[in-house]
Amino acid sequence: MRVLLLGGTREARALAELLVDDGDDVTTSLAGRVARPRLPVGDVRVGGFGGVEGLAAHLREHVVDVVVDATHPFAERISANAAAACPQAGVPLLRLERPGWSVRPDAGTWHWVDDHDEAAQVAAELGERPFLTVGRQSLARFVEPLRDHGCVVRVVDPPEIELPSAWTLVQSRGPYTRDHERDAMRGTDVLVTKDSGGEHTEAKLDVAAELGVPVVVVRRAGAPAGVSVVTDASAARAWVRAQPGR
Ligand SMILES: NC(=O)c1ccc[n+]([C@@H]2O[C@H](COP(=O)([O-])OP(=O)(O)OC[C@H]3O[C@@H](n4cnc5c(N)ncnc54)[C@H](OP(=O)(O)O)[C@@H]3O)[C@@H](O)[C@H]2O)c1
Repeated sequence: MRVLLLGGTREARALAELLVDDGDDVTTSLAGRVARPRLPVGDVRVGGFGGVEGLAAHLREHVVDVVVDATHPFAERISANAAAACPQAGVPLLRLERPGWSVRPDAGTWHWVDDHDEAAQVAAELGERPFLTVGRQSLARFVEPLRDHGCVVRVVDPPEIELPSAWTLVQSRGPYTRDHERDAMRGTDVLVTKDSGGEHTEAKLDVAAELGVPVVVVRRAGAPAGVSVVTDASAARAWVRAQPGR
């Protein structure tokens, strides 16, 4: 089976391993945002396709049998593009999306918001020193509402924008333990995150609960309508095995 795996996540790497073991011809596609990405097994291509048309053309040209969109839950544009391009090219599409944190028992105590602008406003009202763990690409939305707050910002790669002088930048990459997060969150008074899900970055939520720190969470948009969804790599593998191929 020739599989195009839209990647950039741990789940995508896990699925690549399973499918390569099965003998599939797997190419993982990465956007190219991260300077030193963790690479999956199998082939890798890097960079955008050029929107819906570009992706549909790629699927035809490379005679792709199936696409698994295992991109991050907040990589919404590429998921929408895949949902439009796959039917155009006549290629079956599966969405692999890890469960969110809304199933945690403390999720009902959090401040759920629809987007980053609202997250910034709510954080500005709740605290003086927000801990921003929303990813580098969303930071611009927080600058004006939180310019005078003593934000601590954690990112993997350096932000492309200039941060306010009152902010502290921390560059690191998970996974994080509770002990690590107790240190990281010292002095902060509100945690801001998106509902990324997964265990690697979950400890901050445990520590927020332990310390009684309020949590602001940006909701997921969810998978595009009409696309089948699974939540782990083994279910995605079973779906691939069930596809007829061309
Ligand atoms: N957003 C996050 O919080 C987050 C966190 C961790 C990892 N990631 C990973 O980082 C990548 C980029 O995320 P994003 O939020 O910037 O995406 P996005 O906003 O959904 O996508 C923007 C554009 O980047 C290109 N692109 C995105 N993912 C791609 C992929 N896997 N392969 C080839 N092109 C891709 C596409 O360009 P064209 O239209 O030109 O094809 C897409 O239109 C994703 O692959 C995602 O899995 C994102």
